[in-house]
Amino acid sequence: MPSDRIEIRDLSKTFDRDGQSVLALTGVNTSFARGEFVTLFGPSGCGKSTLLRLLAGLERQSTGEIRLFGQTPAEASRLKNIAWVPQSPGLLPWASLRANVRLSERLNRRADRAPDRRRTPEDADEVLRDLGLEDFAEARPAQLSGGMRQRAAIARAFVQGAELMLMDEPFSALDELTRDAVRLRLLQVWEKHRKTVIFVTHSAAEAVMLSDRVVVMTPRPGRVFREVPIDLPRPRTPDVLDSPAFDAKLREVKHVLRAGWEDAP
Ligand SMILES: Nc1ncnc2c1ncn2[C@@H]1O[C@H](COP(=O)(O)OP(=O)(O)O)[C@@H](O)[C@H]1O
Ligand SMILES: [Mg+2]
Repeated sequence: MPSDRIEIRDLSKTFDRDGQSVLALTGVNTSFARGEFVTLFGPSGCGKSTLLRLLAGLERQSTGEIRLFGQTPAEASRLKNIAWVPQSPGLLPWASLRANVRLSERLNRRADRAPDRRRTPEDADEVLRDLGLEDFAEARPAQLSGGMRQRAAIARAFVQGAELMLMDEPFSALDELTRDAVRLRLLQVWEKHRKTVIFVTHSAAEAVMLSDRVVVMTPRPGRVFREVPIDLPRPRTPDVLDSPAFDAKLREVKHVLRAGWEDAP
């Protein structure tokens, strides 16, 4: 398999629940380019989180293969090459934002990286600044709004310097206006660092706004139903987001999702 891509081949995952087996994913085939921003989009229960956990090496697939730039998820995770942005930010409550972000930088310092390539505390400050958190670097998480805490979780993931960033509905607890603002911040930071992002959402607008490509999944058992390229220009300025081309893509993604429902067994 080519080592400059993320490859998923014939993946399936069966869970055992109270003696019954639950097929969560079946026949999943797809691949992602380095630096691509891809969204897994589909209804609740279709296996999005499961797929992300398999990619992170937190769970083992039942059949099939995953390669992250030539490595297995376990290897990539041991080399600290995977960053995870969860649904709730999970910051240390007693530590300032800066301390939270720097701790992640220290814990994830990669042994295979030359010392001069290692990130410094300035990098933590730079990422906090890029996410509009510079005035809150000394604040504790409890002193911040939900949107700020989630931005801090994104900052923490970016200072890790991992090649692959996995984001599982990171904005689902935020109100709609806050979500929009945080999405734009995420795009700005991503455009600067260009890491590979696999982002999970069940919001079509979020998928189209952020992604280079939307991978539409079917209801359980989850399969890749179709992939929709989002060839809208970047940066995704307000002009782009208000354009008829954006609305057309949104309609297309919703239409494909519905077709996937009808296709389900
Ligand atoms: N640890 C587990 N044990 C048993 N069943 C699970 C487990 N994790 C997920 N599932 C089941 O797998 C299916 C997919 O779940 P999940 O990946 O969380 O979906 P999504 O993130 O798309 O909402 C669901 O039916 C869920 O109940
Ligand atoms: Mg989920």
